[in-house]
Formats: sequence, C-alpha cells, structure tokens
Amino acid sequence: MLARDGPDAQAFRGSLVFFNYCVTCHGPNADGNGRAARLYDPRPANLRASDKNLAYMRLIVRRGGKAMNRSEFMPPWGEELTDEQIDDVTVYLQSINDRVAAGPK
Ligand code: HEC
Repeated sequence: MLARDGPDAQAFRGSLVFFNYCVTCHGPNADGNGRAARLYDPRPANLRASDKNLAYMRLIVRRGGKAMNRSEFMPPWGEELTDEQIDDVTVYLQSINDRVAAGPK
C-alpha cells in the first residue's frame, strides 16, 4: 500500500493529473507521442528525456509555453490545476524521467 504522504503518494497523484490532462499530447508513456501529437509543430516534448528541473517544469506547466518563449501549443494550466496538482504532476514527471532514473551525473 502507498503511504498517504511522501514522494510515492505525490507521484501517484501526479500520474492521475497526467492521465487526465496531458496524455493526449504527451502520450501515455510521456514520450511525446500522444494521439494529438502530430497536429503540433514543434511536437509535444518527450518528458522522459527532459533536461529541465522541477522548478522549470512547474513554471512551464503553470504559465504555458508561450510565456516561457516556447511553443504556444503547450497550454498554461495555472487556471485549471491547483498548485498542489502542478507540484504533483511535475514530481511524477521527474520520477519517470530516464535522466533522473539514470542517477546524478
Ligand atoms: C495541446 C497539447 C499539449 C498538452 C495537452 C500538454 N502539453 Fe506539454 N507541451 C506541448 C508542446 C507542444 C510542448 C513543446 C514546447 C516547445 O518545444 O516549445 C510541451 C512541453 C512541455 C514541457 C517542457 C518539457 C521540456 O523538456 O522542456 C513540460 C514540462 C510539459 N509540456 C508538461 C505538460 C503537462 C504536465 C501537461 C498536462 C498538465 C501538458 N504538458 C499538456 C503540448 C502539450
């Protein structure tokens, strides 16, 4: 059973956010191959190979791509998701990021 709090529980909650809001573009594996991915240029980022840290991810999720000088096709989620949901989903993404999984460099 998952502990109610702590990183595992947070990543689990974040996975629920991801599957509700992000999967159409970023794909079930978060590798950027969602159902709608081919509609966008640039394509949705491969979040398993992101070199971005937690703080940057929080910002781009909250404010969207345009505010970060990235593609406007990455929507801003600050109105739709709570800060807690944004924290949860970024922790989830860091937890499945192959770069993080590969350990510190
Ligand atoms: C409508 C399609 C779409 C949806 C839905 C979407 N994204 Fe994105 N996302 C993009 C695109 C396109 C980019 C690439 C932007 C660029 O390269 O300029 C991106 C980039 C990102 C990045 C930057 C990654 C990096 O390495 O720089 C993060 C983090 C991210 N998305 C997280 C999310 C999260 C979390 C959600 C759900 C809450 C989400 N996205 C929903 C299209 C989408």
